[in-house]
Amino acid sequence: MNKLAFPILAVLADGKFHSGETLAQRFGVTRATVYNAIQSVEALGITVFSVRGRGYRLPKAVTLLDVDAIVQACGEYAPWFHVQVLAQVDSTNRYLMQESARGIAHATCVAAHIQTAGRGRRGRTWLSQLGGSLTFSLLWRFQCGAAGLSGLSLVVGLALVRALHSFGLTDVQLKWPNDLLVQHQGQWHKLGGILIELQGDMEGPSAAVIGIGLNLEIAPEMRLNIDQPVLGLNALSAQALDPNLLLGRCLSQLAIHLNQFAEQGFAYFQREWTTYHAFHQQPVNLLLANGQTIPGQVLGVAEEGSLLVETATGQQRFNAGEISVRSAA
Ligand code: BTN
Repeated sequence: MNKLAFPILAVLADGKFHSGETLAQRFGVTRATVYNAIQSVEALGITVFSVRGRGYRLPKAVTLLDVDAIVQACGEYAPWFHVQVLAQVDSTNRYLMQESARGIAHATCVAAHIQTAGRGRRGRTWLSQLGGSLTFSLLWRFQCGAAGLSGLSLVVGLALVRALHSFGLTDVQLKWPNDLLVQHQGQWHKLGGILIELQGDMEGPSAAVIGIGLNLEIAPEMRLNIDQPVLGLNALSAQALDPNLLLGRCLSQLAIHLNQFAEQGFAYFQREWTTYHAFHQQPVNLLLANGQTIPGQVLGVAEEGSLLVETATGQQRFNAGEISVRSAA
């Protein structure tokens, strides 16, 4: 990215007009250099209005991520975390997987303003936009091996539900294994997702890169590129959520839940998780990787986090990654 692009974007974040001349003076460069930087901002898919005689502005003000504000919002859990904010990265998960292999500290959180190749589950891409989403990854190191981490993604979902409830968003529910959903106009909409990537031995120790994408506002042009009903959290809230506060609250809840999970596993959370399970005891269709669809009725989640479903051939148990669940209600 052009090295002036993000500093200029940070000025434009107030949503007001800034003339090319003022920006040029501020950064000690020519107006042509400012123009080039604006072009590189636009190349990232960010709309910048340019009006002769007035200058440049963003369609609306954007609250940028700020390390100090995030740390402050973590409250008593602040000392746990090492927070980094990147202007732009392909994927915070990819970046943190690489840094984890190089030995970066436990509880490092990397958030990005712009993700150009966000990764979703099952090999999908995760689309996000500046100011329209909160995208971050958290590295958590465990003594146990990957085999001991079943149920981790469910616990992460629960931590996020608790964080969202603290903003009064009490209708947010979970779809097994870890999507955040809400009922809106009679239909389930996805508010956010979780992608966990693991490193280490089966015997341990292991490291989990926990990637989280939360929709704040979905721009109409982005909605066209997403193949399922999606909603931004701001649509559920009287006031737009401050992404710094939201990230801080997510991190504090993650610290609480991940520490408890390391000691007691998913079994400790099983009952509470079920209370937020969107499809609990509901009819569903299970989509298998081979394209087959199995209808069934959700019975619940097991102690280690697998999904229990009554199907035509009897009770079956599925692990995360094996199936995708769709409501058939
Ligand atoms: C899903 O498919 O539901 C999971 C989406 C996870 C997206 C987040 S955004 C931050 C982190 N970095 C990535 O590349 N992906 C995750």
